[in-house]
Amino acid sequence: MSYKHIEVALADRSYPIIIGQQLLVNSSFYSSVIQGKRVCIVSDRNVAPLYLDTLKATLAVYEIDEFILPSGEQHKSLQQWQLLLGQLVSNKHHRDTTLIALGGGVVGDLTGFAAACYQRGIRFIQIPTTLLAQVDASVGGKTAVNHAQGKNLIGAFYQPSLVLIDVDLLMSLPKREYIAGLAEVVKYGCIADSEFLQWLEVNIQGLLARDSGVLQHAVWRSCQIKAEVVSQDERDTGVRATLNFGHTFAHAIELAGNYEQFLHGEAVAIGMVLAARLSFLLGMLDGDVCEKITFLLKNLGLPTALPDNMAPETLYENMQMDKKVHDEQVCFILLASLGKAVSRSDIEQAMVFDLLSN
Ligand code: GLY
Repeated sequence: MSYKHIEVALADRSYPIIIGQQLLVNSSFYSSVIQGKRVCIVSDRNVAPLYLDTLKATLAVYEIDEFILPSGEQHKSLQQWQLLLGQLVSNKHHRDTTLIALGGGVVGDLTGFAAACYQRGIRFIQIPTTLLAQVDASVGGKTAVNHAQGKNLIGAFYQPSLVLIDVDLLMSLPKREYIAGLAEVVKYGCIADSEFLQWLEVNIQGLLARDSGVLQHAVWRSCQIKAEVVSQDERDTGVRATLNFGHTFAHAIELAGNYEQFLHGEAVAIGMVLAARLSFLLGMLDGDVCEKITFLLKNLGLPTALPDNMAPETLYENMQMDKKVHDEQVCFILLASLGKAVSRSDIEQAMVFDLLSN
């Protein structure tokens, strides 16, 4: 079995990311991390029927508890978090229980936050099953649940003990969700590695065909970049903000579409095109780089333009509500060149309006 290994270097909170195939059925990876006799697998109603039995068979030497969430972002809630903690208490789990998140970002974020809180912190393993979770949410220790007034408002920085990324699990993802995840992969090329962006261009067909080798490389390089950024800025006070390239626009677009019109990755794709164009308007970036990014996203099947139903006024208002507003200024992650992102909070409102209107 071939696999790749990345270390997220965070002193005593360091952990490995393992990327490969057939990882769900290989017990050796788990035994190095699980300390006690008991685990609790957290999954959702979409993922559990596909992979839960396989994982349980792999972990047969342990005493296994399970908690299955309804699927969907609305269940990344304090209520489900409380139900999970209640089950851990009722079933008398101790501090040596390991939680295992088997699912996408909702499952991973909620499980991580439960692990952070149960008995002041127990171990957890991330097994992300969506591309978005494999290249972003499962790495870096941002754990949270949503509040009625905003996403991820209640949470903690709490690192997993292991991230196991089995690209075989992506074969069952619906096409639209898979393609949306590719937007975050493109993001890493834009902010940190122009050669990787070039590689993505050359491998568009392999990416769309979900070729295992191509996928493993794309996920590995994405996680490597994320791990480097997280190692430098675990608590998101500096360079980690560059991971939000395209996201200031994306969050406004998602909100304007009532979280129904676009998947997160689709909104990020449009947001990255807008952020690249803003960089161009500011004289920071060549026009042909904007075109290169747009062309790649388009060829991957992602949207690259705002829909007609989104007024610049609405989008700007949404941006001001976003959590990345500092001192009343909207913060944008822009490109100084392909592969180099910078944070700017001094952009004139008129320029943003101009961009959103054209
Ligand atoms: N998803 C952005 C971050 O982990 O900081």
